[in-house]
Amino acid sequence: MAPQPTVTDGSCVVPEWYPSGWRLVRAGRGPGSSGASTDRPSAKLALMTEAAATTARSSNLPDKPRIFSGIQPTGRPHLGNDLGAIRNYVALSEKYEAIYCIVDYHALTHVHNPEVLRRQTLEMAAALIALGLDPDKCSLFVQSDRPEVTELCWLFNTVTPVGWLQRTPTYKEKRANQPEDVNHGLLTYPVLQAADIVLYKASLVPIGRDQAPHLELSREIVRAFNARYGETFPEPQAVYTEAPVVLGTDGVKKMSKSIGNTIEILAEPDVIRKQVMSMVTDTQRILRSDPGRPEVCNVCQMHRHFGADYREIWEGERTARTGCVDTKKLLAERIIAHYAPARETYRALMADPLRLRRILDEGAERIRPIAQATMTEVRERMGLR
Ligand code: TYM
Repeated sequence: MAPQPTVTDGSCVVPEWYPSGWRLVRAGRGPGSSGASTDRPSAKLALMTEAAATTARSSNLPDKPRIFSGIQPTGRPHLGNDLGAIRNYVALSEKYEAIYCIVDYHALTHVHNPEVLRRQTLEMAAALIALGLDPDKCSLFVQSDRPEVTELCWLFNTVTPVGWLQRTPTYKEKRANQPEDVNHGLLTYPVLQAADIVLYKASLVPIGRDQAPHLELSREIVRAFNARYGETFPEPQAVYTEAPVVLGTDGVKKMSKSIGNTIEILAEPDVIRKQVMSMVTDTQRILRSDPGRPEVCNVCQMHRHFGADYREIWEGERTARTGCVDTKKLLAERIIAHYAPARETYRALMADPLRLRRILDEGAERIRPIAQATMTEVRERMGLR
């Protein structure tokens, strides 16, 4: 498999056409594949034997690379969302046709309170705009406002062996996290995610590394569909930031709201101070006079993203000139300052929910023709008309 592209700021991204669609190509380290495809050879083979289907290439492919990504309506995003994905949403929408979706259908697999879902959907929309997404330069919409995706999800279910879904690591995790609510949506979750992306024939997907297994599955589903019904969809490629995995305040697990180890970037300054001060640093540095190890200290690593002087900060830790508390205080103040303008914009947007709703409605309307064209093509290819 070709190495997956890594993107830091969108400025040095070069799109190239490959037989499977558009890819971003860029000098630098590629994070490589998730490896998820290699453990499913037999299922893949079974589907490939049906490749007798037409080889006609879809005439409905975009002539420029199209970007798509989705984010759950968890309310205000955390630092992991921003460093791992949202920064790339913004950078890529400056250069390419970009579509971003707040995935409320996906959220229903674990949020069952209608009021909470409605509020958190608007909060996420406000946060994305506050963090730099310009609704005039991209289409920002709510997943359930373009319900064609649920039809495509069903159609994809018919080319997706159930074993692929049962083996998905996130399914196993979610089953463990909510044993009292193992609903069918949890199993189908990645199929809906594949439908999200390819309904718009998007080929590039800015995501954090935790989503790599889902993206790999999307690629498998696309291959299975194309093998059975003819070349219809490009295989989507992941686009990563320089921080594809942001660890939580515990310094061990990935930052995640469900774990409760987040730094809420748009929260009040005192909340951020408290969260940053609770961060676990180098666990081997017991005394203030012990030398620190910045390469394993999560606080030091986060400083990379909030100032060009991070090497000096690391040196202070290494020589014990500074203590962990100093380094954390500095990080908290830098995070607070960095997100201060976004915090203001977020507040203003939340005070005007009608404006937010209008932006989201316009986003969903703008992409309607793409969704409808794809569904017409898919129905025809599958024999539904
Ligand atoms: P979600 O809502 O969990 O996360 C949104 C984005 O933030 C990234 N992210 C992180 N990156 C680095 N470090 C972290 N600690 C961290 N936490 C979150 C995620 O990788 C993601 O890019 N299943 C998806 C939503 C989705 C989607 C899609 C994504 C639905 N359809 C289609 C892409 C394309 C999810 O739950 O993301």
